[in-house]
Amino acid sequence: MERTFILLKPDCVQRRLMGDVIGRMESKGLNFIAMKMLQITPDLAKQHYAEHVEKGWYPTLEGFITGGPVMAAVLEGLDAIRVVREMLGATNGLQASPGTIRGDYSSSRQMNLVHGSDGPEAACREISLYFSDEELCSYEPTITPWMRAADE
Ligand code: TYD
Ligand code: MG
Repeated sequence: MERTFILLKPDCVQRRLMGDVIGRMESKGLNFIAMKMLQITPDLAKQHYAEHVEKGWYPTLEGFITGGPVMAAVLEGLDAIRVVREMLGATNGLQASPGTIRGDYSSSRQMNLVHGSDGPEAACREISLYFSDEELCSYEPTITPWMRAADE
């Protein structure tokens, strides 16, 4: 089992696409083990996007990500980090493949609806940036035997 962090960005909330994104991930077999609405502050934005703070486009990214409420969540599943990244698609919605979330709903490089951790280190760092250990509600769904074979 692997954990990953997702953020439904302000465009996702404003465009009423949260239910669709959550539904796709649930249907795939990923377990939501934590969820919260919040408004990201400039300080949290700089921590979240630490690797991008020096980029020329960072100020507009910060304006966007702090510009409305977001929903942060933690997902658990087999290969969850890679699976979620592939479900999101390429960063730029104009280049993301049809069938991916960004490919189906985004025509923007910045307003690409959902963030997903890009590796185990990022997942760990991002989960602890938004959630305490007590807020993670890991559980074994009773439907698991109908989602995959016992040896998978
Ligand atoms: P990045 O880590 O490259 O993409 P991803 O979210 O797919 O891991 O960039 C982080 C976010 O920054 C990206 O989701 C959208 C935004 N962004 C811009 O606003 N302008 C840009 O030129 C790029 C490359 C990204
Ligand atoms: Mg990234």
